[in-house]
Amino acid sequence: MDPKKEGLTLRIANRLQGIEGSPTLALSAKAKALTKAGKDVLDLTAGEPDFPTPAHVKAAGVRAIENNQTRYTPVAGISELRSAIAETLNRQHQTAYAPAQILVSCGAKHSLFNVFQTLLQAPDEVLILAPYWVSYPPLVQLSGARPVIIPTTEQDQFLPNASALRAAVTAQTRAIILNSPSNPTGAVMDQKRLSEIAQLAIEKDLIIVSDEIYDQLVYPPQKHYSIIQVAPKVIDRTVLVGGVSKTYSMTGWRIGFAAGPQAWMDTMTTLQSHSTSNAPSISQHAALEALAGPQNEVSKMRENFQKRRDVLVNGLNRLSPLRCQSPGGAFYAWCNVSGLGKSADTIASLWLEEALIAVIPSEGFGMEGYVRMSFAASKETIEATLKRLEQWLKQR
Ligand SMILES: Cc1ncc(COP(=O)(O)O)c(C=O)c1O
Repeated sequence: MDPKKEGLTLRIANRLQGIEGSPTLALSAKAKALTKAGKDVLDLTAGEPDFPTPAHVKAAGVRAIENNQTRYTPVAGISELRSAIAETLNRQHQTAYAPAQILVSCGAKHSLFNVFQTLLQAPDEVLILAPYWVSYPPLVQLSGARPVIIPTTEQDQFLPNASALRAAVTAQTRAIILNSPSNPTGAVMDQKRLSEIAQLAIEKDLIIVSDEIYDQLVYPPQKHYSIIQVAPKVIDRTVLVGGVSKTYSMTGWRIGFAAGPQAWMDTMTTLQSHSTSNAPSISQHAALEALAGPQNEVSKMRENFQKRRDVLVNGLNRLSPLRCQSPGGAFYAWCNVSGLGKSADTIASLWLEEALIAVIPSEGFGMEGYVRMSFAASKETIEATLKRLEQWLKQR
């Protein structure tokens, strides 16, 4: 039915035409539904740590409720949390962010939404490296700007190449999105590449949006570098986005943040004042404890992830024709399935139907031939997955 012809009021705004729901969340939901129906699904779709939120952080949330810290807070967040975020960033990156330059939002996804709504419009173009986190293109489109996709390659460890980026710059290019460590590849950017990109941004007058949500999940000998640390000159053209979701296993608490030039942050705060207002007050108090309290749970989770990564990646590389580079960060293995001669979409469906293994095919991340396998799953689940895959490969 065409609502316009029918004269009905069902019209959906043009800006949402062609915007689809997150494919990663959809697949996770399918795996969960099968599990609920009694199937023994090995679920490697998770985009979140499988550990509980650390006890001292949960206790801070409970305390906030008991202390009646359950009312509106300032739109940009409670001052203690904004100070703790500024201090954390300044310690990590030798920067000098003032608490006023921090905007606390309902998850890093919301921070990115605020950034793009505030800084982009048609006919701006935004450079996005593929494979990309699934939400970047829709978030950019919702601002009226156009995503321009720049592929990376396995040979280059899925890292950006400054000359490919340079070749894609037009008079309309306004911004570039960086995501290190990357979801979905786990690739971690080195100082040389960051400084080349910073140079390009200065030369072509580009904004940098640096999504560093996985910054604490980097496995030695790899190290996390932020572009603002490697090239302090770009700080006045960069918005850094981060949060507590992945580092502290706090995905459901919905706290993310952005840090950037004061005028941008003030306008983003105005936008947020007319949409969500403050992020949940209770979650802000818990996030404060996460950032300012003891950090030993973070190292424990990191060590645990690293062990699981090694089990998964080494196991996959024994299962020809599968092939997988060892990710330097985040908790995803980006496994090459092109040797199986079918699309990644088809492979993910076959694995779910025939082996009850749930993974996310690469098409939604803007690349062919791979599946994303999360190692935010128990060692037992990972080992069982490898066994089932071995069996499946034998029988196919
Ligand atoms: C690269 C990347 N950025 C941002 C987010 C959003 O994080 P949050 O849960 O804090 O909104 C995610 C979550 O999956 C992510 O993978």
